[in-house]
Amino acid sequence: MKNILVVGGAGYIGSHMVWLLGQRGLQVVVLDNLSAGHRDAVLHGELVEGDMADRALLDRVLSARPFDAVMHFASSIQVGESVADPAKYYVNNVARTLALLEAMRAHGVGQFVFSSTAAVFGEPLRIPIGADHPCAPINPYGRTKWMVEQVLADYAAAYGLRSVSLRYFNAAGAHPLGLLGERHEPETHLIPLVLQAAAGRRAHVSVFGRDYDTPDGTCIRDYVHVMDLAEAHWLALQHLAAGGAGGAFNLGNGDGYSVQQVIDAAQRVTGREIAVQEGPRRPGDPARLVADAARARSVLGWQPRRADLQTIVADAWRWECRGGTPDAMLSVAARA
Ligand code: UFG
Repeated sequence: MKNILVVGGAGYIGSHMVWLLGQRGLQVVVLDNLSAGHRDAVLHGELVEGDMADRALLDRVLSARPFDAVMHFASSIQVGESVADPAKYYVNNVARTLALLEAMRAHGVGQFVFSSTAAVFGEPLRIPIGADHPCAPINPYGRTKWMVEQVLADYAAAYGLRSVSLRYFNAAGAHPLGLLGERHEPETHLIPLVLQAAAGRRAHVSVFGRDYDTPDGTCIRDYVHVMDLAEAHWLALQHLAAGGAGGAFNLGNGDGYSVQQVIDAAQRVTGREIAVQEGPRRPGDPARLVADAARARSVLGWQPRRADLQTIVADAWRWECRGGTPDAMLSVAARA
C-alpha cells in the first residue's frame, strides 16, 4: 500500500486523514473541488482541484501513478438541506460517486473506503445500534449514503471492487495540536456551535428540544473524535490490503451524551458561561443515536483513543481558540 487518492481530502474528516497518511509515510493525492474544503487544510501530498465526476481529470490523475486505493470523503452532509433540495444530494452523493467508481474500474483500482453515516439507520429500533441493525433512512441524505453502500455490495460481488463503508456517528473534535479542525460553512454541528458561543463568536447556542424521552429531555448522541475516525480509516485500508472482505462498520464510542451534557462539558473545558436559547425540536432528529462498534473493534482492531467527551471538547476548543483557522507556521512545519 503506497499511493492513495483521497477524494474530499480538504474537508473536515478528509484533511485529518490526509495528515495521518502523511505521518504513516504514504503518497497522497487529494482531489477536492473546494466547494466545502479548504486549500490550507491539505497538510500532505498534492492537491488537485477538481471534481470527481470530471472523467477527463480522473483519467489524468489515475493514470499518473498506480493507486492502491481510493478514500471518498466528498459529500453534501446537511440533513435539513437534503429534504429541501434532494436533487443536490442525489447528484453530489450518488451520481458523482458512481462516476468516481466508473473511473476506478476503468483504471483497475480495486479498493475503496467510503464515508457513510449513522443516518442510514433512520429511527433506531434498538440502542446501541450494531452493524447489522436494519437500514431504513428517513431523509434523502441518509438514503444517498445507503444507496451507495448497496451499490458497493453489488460492485464487490460483480467486479471484485472491495470496499469498506464506515458509518460515523457524530464526528467531533480536532487535531490535538490544533493543526486542523472543523470549518463548515454554514456550521450546523453542536460542538463547534457551542464553542463559538463560548468564544463570543455567537450570542448563544440553541437547544433543539427539551421534551425528548431522555434523562434531561435533550437528544443523546455518540460523539467520536475525528482522529479516532482517521485511525479507523487507516485500519480499513490495512484490512483491504490484507485481502479482507469488505462491508460496513459503525464508528462510535458506545457512550451517549445529551445536548445539555455537551454544553456542561464545554463550560467546564472553557471556563466560560455559555448562553443557551431554548428552541423547538429540529425535524428528523431521533432522540438517541449510540453506536455498537463491536464489528469495527473485532474485525479492524479499532480502539478509540480520544473517546472521552472532555478530550473531544478540549481538542475542539484548542482549534476554536485559533479562530477556527490553521496557524500558518504550524502548517508549514507540518508540511515540511
Ligand atoms: N443541536 C442543538 N442545537 C444546535 C445544533 C444541534 O440542540 O444548534 C442538537 C441536535 O438537535 C442533535 C445534536 O445537537 O440532537 C447533534 O446535532 P448535530 O447537528 O451536531 O449532529 P446530528 O446528530 O444531527 O448529525 C450527525 C451528522 C450528520 C448525520 C447525522 C445522523 O453530523 O451528518 O448525525 O443522524 F446525518
